[in-house]
Amino acid sequence: MKILFVVSEVLPFSKTGGLADVASALPAALAGLGHEVKVVTPAYASVRAAKPEPLGVPLSLSFPAGTFHSELLSVSHGPNHQVLFLAQDALYDRPGIYGEGPWPYADNALRYAFLSVGALSAAQALGFAPDIVHLNDWQTGLAALALLRGYGDTPLGRARSVFTLHNLAYQGWFPKEQMDVLGLPWELFTPDGLEFYDQLNFLKAGVVWADALTTVSPTYARDIQTPEGGEGLHGLLRERAGALTGILNGIDTTTWNPATDVHLPARFHAGDLAGKAECRRALLSRFGLPAEAEGPLFVCISRMAAQKGMDLVLEVMPGLLSRSNARLVVLGSGDPELETAFRVLASRFPGQVGLQLGYDESLSHLVEAGGDFFLMPSRFEPCGLNQMYSLAYGCVPVVRSVGGLSDTVVDLSQPDGTGIRFDAFSAPAFERAVERAMALHADSTALEAVRRRGMVRDFSWGRSARAYEALYRRLVGTT
Ligand code: ADP
Ligand code: GLC
Repeated sequence: MKILFVVSEVLPFSKTGGLADVASALPAALAGLGHEVKVVTPAYASVRAAKPEPLGVPLSLSFPAGTFHSELLSVSHGPNHQVLFLAQDALYDRPGIYGEGPWPYADNALRYAFLSVGALSAAQALGFAPDIVHLNDWQTGLAALALLRGYGDTPLGRARSVFTLHNLAYQGWFPKEQMDVLGLPWELFTPDGLEFYDQLNFLKAGVVWADALTTVSPTYARDIQTPEGGEGLHGLLRERAGALTGILNGIDTTTWNPATDVHLPARFHAGDLAGKAECRRALLSRFGLPAEAEGPLFVCISRMAAQKGMDLVLEVMPGLLSRSNARLVVLGSGDPELETAFRVLASRFPGQVGLQLGYDESLSHLVEAGGDFFLMPSRFEPCGLNQMYSLAYGCVPVVRSVGGLSDTVVDLSQPDGTGIRFDAFSAPAFERAVERAMALHADSTALEAVRRRGMVRDFSWGRSARAYEALYRRLVGTT
């Protein structure tokens, strides 16, 4: 099949979260199954380092706000997998992706309407007639609508659309005046269309008009049909339940494999964990923490956002650090208030807490490899990749039982346990989970058995890619 995959961030060119990991690994896995995949994404300033090749294909898109000229750049990852960048400097050549610091760019509605329509025009200009247009998150929602309304009598008219919800907390809400800026017809500004509490909602365009909906874990697919997890859209999602499936993400086992990882000072695998001890020493020394001390090393790598439950880490860890020889290493960035609170924690516990604020891909590998326990007490979690990286790296995950965390981590109380789970989003519940980690750490035989069980679990993309392939085939009617 020919697949047009539209997405707002793609590793290694741009990334703010797990979406970028998926946008690189899923198309690669689909190409590996023999499909032809073209990924379309903006040419942000960060893309320049990869020196993408200009294709000499000009595009012009007109909105009431003006006509925007663009050209296509490309990087090939093999014969079946090409990444196409929409170059439009006024919209995308900026230091940030969605904004700078906590401030989103004021013209994000136009920037992502441009991506949505530009991706379809790009396919048309290249003579690429996809069977499937696979859209991701609010940034691409309008493409589902545009495909139905604007391309019916073109070669794209036969394409079926799939819209994947990676995170319902971000819906692309804009003042309704943007309808005029983008030239959207007002008859679509209704509760069963683009309107959401008197605002324009990009995500709804995908939810309403895509042929199929997917989300990134089976549990999250259920969570979002409830008032607690639906972020205001549970009613609409229930109406479309017949079109919605949960397909668990995989992880890219070529970059996330402790036996071959180029970012590590020593490598290891389930059969020989000696290299892990060396990574642990390197990690402690990288953060200026004493390498010889006993006691468990807890780690976190996270966007600092309410979703991730970092407030529970801040509430529970000071007590634990005061009464034990545990240590904590945190790598993260985001909400300035959370960042400040972690700075305060680090200055209160020198020698026990290591902190790096900012984004560091290479360091994130060492943190997984060196850590004993990975803390992920999320309020909600569509899938989550870090707990799977942790399992692969023998860093036992301590997770809240929500969304993809429930689908990937088996609690210690089970014979095939790979981690520690807790239910209530509360400090006492998280504290009990962390105490269970302390107890496990004190029993080195049990700890090693749990580690090894996690390390041999298979989370590679193959199975998920085949699930998407089966969905695509159902949509195009070839099964
Ligand atoms: P989300 O997309 O909600 O942030 P995921 O667990 O799906 O959560 O994906 C997060 C991704 O971002 C992982 O690849 C993780 O390693 C990475 N990540 C998050 N924060 C940082 C950071 N500060 N430095 C390096 N990598 C980070
Ligand atoms: C979102 C979710 C995360 C998921 C990622 C990739 O960022 O927050 O749980 O793993 O998308 O699908």
